[in-house]
Amino acid sequence: MARKRGQTLQVKVPAPLDANEAAQRAFEHDRPLTTHNFVEGEHPIVRIEHLNKTFDGTTQVLRDINLTVWPAEVVCVLGPSGSGKSTMLRCINLLETPTAGHILIEDQPITGLAKAEVNKLRQNLGMVFQSFNLFPHLTALGNVMIGQTKVLGKSKEEAEAEARKQLEAVGLADRADFKPAQLSGGQQQRVAIARAVAMHPDVLLFDEPTSALDPELVRGVLDVMRDLAKNSGMTMIVVTHEMGFAREVADRVVFMEDGVVVEQGVPAQVFDNPKNQRTAEFLGDIQ
Ligand SMILES: Nc1ncnc2c1ncn2[C@@H]1O[C@H](COP(=O)(O)OP(=O)(O)O)[C@@H](O)[C@H]1O
Ligand SMILES: [Mg+2]
Repeated sequence: MARKRGQTLQVKVPAPLDANEAAQRAFEHDRPLTTHNFVEGEHPIVRIEHLNKTFDGTTQVLRDINLTVWPAEVVCVLGPSGSGKSTMLRCINLLETPTAGHILIEDQPITGLAKAEVNKLRQNLGMVFQSFNLFPHLTALGNVMIGQTKVLGKSKEEAEAEARKQLEAVGLADRADFKPAQLSGGQQQRVAIARAVAMHPDVLLFDEPTSALDPELVRGVLDVMRDLAKNSGMTMIVVTHEMGFAREVADRVVFMEDGVVVEQGVPAQVFDNPKNQRTAEFLGDIQ
């Protein structure tokens, strides 16, 4: 487990890399690790540099995480329970505050932002949670509209048109007037995905979106995510235990354990020929 009581955290980390240098370094370093189609001169959309997270001053959960994500890349994050996957995602949208290190979204450092700027950042980072987190008193349509009207300031008509389009895309056009309690878990999660996509974020974060679902409902949600991954051009970071999905859909697979990125690479390499013994053991256990 990621607990090292009494250990002091090394908080001194280098300043974030200059944008062009980071792009060049990542370009050279990352090409073997992903099936992403690199475009000359493009910059990473998410840069995590030397990220550390400690809870209560003693429990170090993330240790010097470095990860680059490119525009439209689909990254699946795997690893045992407690390895820090959720904490890393939550640091990316500042639901947790990093203890040390830097996170940059489109070359802008996000640590140290004022509250108004954090809200703006969150508009650009959609999140889909394991437990759906829909508003229980609103219909499916209302859930997909509310962020658009309240946060983006869209008119009701515009928001409703977008919401209906996104509900249709997740196969729920005929459930627009249903409240969450009248929907299955799989349908609720598809509403949550429609809600996130309707905000047109730059990056969509998924934290084990199918882990709370009955097995027969998993496929419908994965189908929606696969469609997004292949057809929307959206950047996606997906924490999942669905190995078949990761193998098929991911450009890059990242294996975390004990707060460390142990291994990353294209799915075929990580799944068929893991370099790290812990990755091999984990995949052996789960597959
Ligand atoms: N708010 C918190 N306070 C204290 N410890 C936490 C908190 N959130 C997570 N942790 C601890 O951090 C570790 C990693 O948790 P998490 O990021 O949820 O892992 P994963 O998502 O990989 O299962 C666990 O040991 C967990 O108990
Ligand atoms: Mg988790």
